[in-house]
Amino acid sequence: MFELKTVLATSAGAFFAFLYFSRRKRHVVKESPPHPSWKAGENQPIPYPGRHVTLLPSELKSCYPLIISAYVPRPIALVSSKSAAGHVNVAPYSYTGAISHDPPAIVVSCCRKAGDVMKDTLANILDTKEFVVNIMSEWYAESANHTCGNFPPEVNEMDVAGLTPLPSKIISPPRVAESALNFECRLIHQYDMKNAQGKVTTTVVIGEIVAFHVHEGVLEMNGAGEGKPTVNFDALKPLSRLGGCTYGRTTAVFDLPRLDRA
Ligand SMILES: Cc1cc2nc3c(=O)[nH]c(=O)nc-3n(C[C@H](O)[C@H](O)[C@H](O)COP(=O)(O)O)c2cc1C
Repeated sequence: MFELKTVLATSAGAFFAFLYFSRRKRHVVKESPPHPSWKAGENQPIPYPGRHVTLLPSELKSCYPLIISAYVPRPIALVSSKSAAGHVNVAPYSYTGAISHDPPAIVVSCCRKAGDVMKDTLANILDTKEFVVNIMSEWYAESANHTCGNFPPEVNEMDVAGLTPLPSKIISPPRVAESALNFECRLIHQYDMKNAQGKVTTTVVIGEIVAFHVHEGVLEMNGAGEGKPTVNFDALKPLSRLGGCTYGRTTAVFDLPRLDRA
């Protein structure tokens, strides 16, 4: 009986997802590759006059503006966590990335604040070993961005920003309801980074994803085949971080085949 219910619910979900995706106006434009007539071995030079300028970190006042404008676009993890005392915290982090699928894992890098103070997110993760990565989408950009304020640890940024908590399934910190993707993570590795003066400036944390929550509006159950769900980026409207205070939208894409796959 339970199995029949599951089959019916899955079929209904798939049917509504099909209706949704087939009727929805496309947001992302599918384009041709930049050079459709390119042949293997043809040179593709930089389209600007000039040469590379070599910049040594030791000779710069700060690498910060350079690295955040150069290594782009970066995905953004809107991290929700909870302190040992039970205070909920949310903040965006773009020094982040998916680094493995087996085990499924995400890295987030938290810099120290002025005065060598740990950010609340990091302090909470090190204390409780748990956090949720919520993916930022266009429809809640302003409220998600608002959580980056330097609020005291006892302030719940979800309240301040107008975000809605949803209980997680396996861990204690809540998820963000406005996000179509929530990844419940358990801390599996941490690493302190030291600068040239030997001072710890940043801590890298790696979380193993112990539960994925994917909203039906973006989920494709058979995207890559049976048992291999995928996310529709057109529906997800993911945001990325560019330099300074600039966010990027994903509005145009093209496909290039992988040589190692049929
Ligand atoms: C889009 C965006 C990306 C950010 N990425 C990072 C990051 O990768 N690492 C970091 O330490 N701070 C990052 N910040 C700054 C933190 O969000 C900010 O310091 C925040 O106050 C930290 O909050 P918390 O103390 O509650 O963790 C980012 C801010 C924004 C708006």
